[in-house]
This record gives sequence, structure tokens and C-alpha cells, in this order.
Amino acid sequence: MKPISQLDSLKKHSLVVADTGDIDAVALWKPQDATTNPSLLLASAEDPRYRPIVEQAIANAGGEAAAAMDQLFVRFGGEILKHVAGRVSTEVDARLSFDENQSVEKAKKLISLYEKNGVSRERVLIKLASTWEGIEAARRLEREGIHCNLTLLFSFAQAVACADAGVTLISPFVGRIYDWHKQARKVEDIPIGEDPGVASVVRIYNYYKKHGYKTQVMGASFRKVGQITALAGCDLLTIAPDLLDKLSKSEGELPRKLSAEDAKKQSLAKIAMDEKTFRWMHNEDAMATDKLAEGIRRFDADARKLEKLITSLSAAVPAK
Ligand code: E4P
Repeated sequence: MKPISQLDSLKKHSLVVADTGDIDAVALWKPQDATTNPSLLLASAEDPRYRPIVEQAIANAGGEAAAAMDQLFVRFGGEILKHVAGRVSTEVDARLSFDENQSVEKAKKLISLYEKNGVSRERVLIKLASTWEGIEAARRLEREGIHCNLTLLFSFAQAVACADAGVTLISPFVGRIYDWHKQARKVEDIPIGEDPGVASVVRIYNYYKKHGYKTQVMGASFRKVGQITALAGCDLLTIAPDLLDKLSKSEGELPRKLSAEDAKKQSLAKIAMDEKTFRWMHNEDAMATDKLAEGIRRFDADARKLEKLITSLSAAVPAK
């Protein structure tokens, strides 16, 4: 009998998601769900294979750059959904990270575009940065049946606030936490057993399960296979195509590392969260403060590059 691949073994413990805007990669890996972000969609929009999708978005938007961005995100999401049974995550513009009302408005706009294209809101997760304002926006959206994925999550304070707000899922960024600590310690690598990115997800997962929160944990931003296998059992894991490939080529059963049953046995005090506590706790965490700010800047920079690409192509595309 052919030995099981690590990817198939992982799927017995966690829901495996593809972290990519590359439609062909989604078609190849056939994950349950897929996640995108502005940087991933910039890479896809620059790829000649997907130029017709960009041109269609521009044509539908009548030449208006902001409208074309929304169209582009939704068109890529729609194409991705043709290859997954579950949901696609689409991110709200990083410029709105500190504006609750405008984040709600943008999320509703994206959902209405999806619905106009025949995609139900049940198949979309709106991604918002885990700022206080982003989390409050998600609280309101969830009440209206719009499901949210809270991204750029680096601190325990962010995780506690997201669970209190009743968001559908959170994406703690394992790799970027690892990157920060590697740089701070001036080392080439940190072993998995001491990896602060992995430890952060374990702590959040245990806290959520211990206290019976509905919010699901989706480990994200991986740098190596060991970080993924150390989190087998986490509700969801979103994985880039190169790491999906490595997992598919490695053989062997993966032991479950996280379970609700084990989490319930732990003594983890419940934290009462409000805005002041959130801001204080998050600010106390230098890594999380740096990485959230940098993450917003990076997603914004890539969204602006995408806007420039759209503007440069607009002249050549006739409006519909
Ligand atoms: C997923 O939701 C995230 O956008 C993604 O995993 C970020 O990964 P990166 O740190 O490799 O950019």
C-alpha cells in the first residue's frame, strides 16, 4: 500500500486552505477554502495568465480605479471559488484599518458585488486587519450575517478581542512572528520547539477551546513545513502552494498536536477585554506592535501598486 502523504495526513486533523491568488494553483491543490490578500492579488494581477480578469474588472468599473479594485478582488475571488467547495477570503483596503464605519461599508460593497455575481455571502470571508477598529467593524458585520477573517494577528490581545467580538475566524501570522524574533535575536533559524509563532497559535487555540469560543483559529504565514506540522489539529491552516507541494511529497502520518480536549484541561484565566485593555496589552508586545503596523503598510503599498497597474491598463480597456 502507498504510504500516506503528510498533506493527506494533515487533512485528517485540520481543514487545509490554500494561501494564494494563483487560480491555477487553487485548481491544482483543490483545497476546501482559499485565502487572498492584496500582495497575493498584486502578484496574480501582474501575471499575464490572469490579464483577462484584470481587463474585465477595469471594463466593469467604467474606468474608475477604486471601483476597479473592488471588481478585481471579487473577480479573482469568484474564479477561485470555481475550484473550492468552501469559502474565499477577500481583504478590505488596508487604508481603512483605523476606520470602523468605512470598513463596514467596504465589506458590504464587496459582499454586494459577490452577490451580484451569483456568489452567496456564505462563501466569502471578509478579511480585516485586527486593529481595534477592524475588530469592531467585524462585530457589526457578523451581526448582519457577513462572516469575517481577522488578519494581521500577532498579539494575544488581538485574539481575545476577536473572540469576544464573535468573529468567524482569525489568522495568526506564524511566519511573521518568527521573522521578527529571528531578526531581533540575530539568528538564522529558531527550532520549532522554541518557535514563538507556533507558540502563539498554541496559546490562542487553547484559550479559545478552554473557554468555549466559537471563533476558529486558522494558522497563517508559514515559513517552513515544521511550523505547519507542529500545529496539526488547529481548526484551519492556510498554506502557500510551495509548502503544500512539500507536504504532498513527504510521507508519513502526522500526530495531532492540538485538541480541544487537551485545551480544556489547561488552567488559562479568562481575560476581560475592553478598548483600553486591548490597546495597552497590544502595545506591551513590541513584536506585535511592529508587525501590525508594518503589515498594514505592506498591504497598503501593494494595493497602491495594484491601483497603478489598473490605471495604466485603463487607457487601453473600453468601459462596458
Ligand atoms: C494569510 O491569510 C496571510 O495573508 C498570509 O499567510 C501572509 O503570509 P506571509 O507572511 O508569507 O505574507
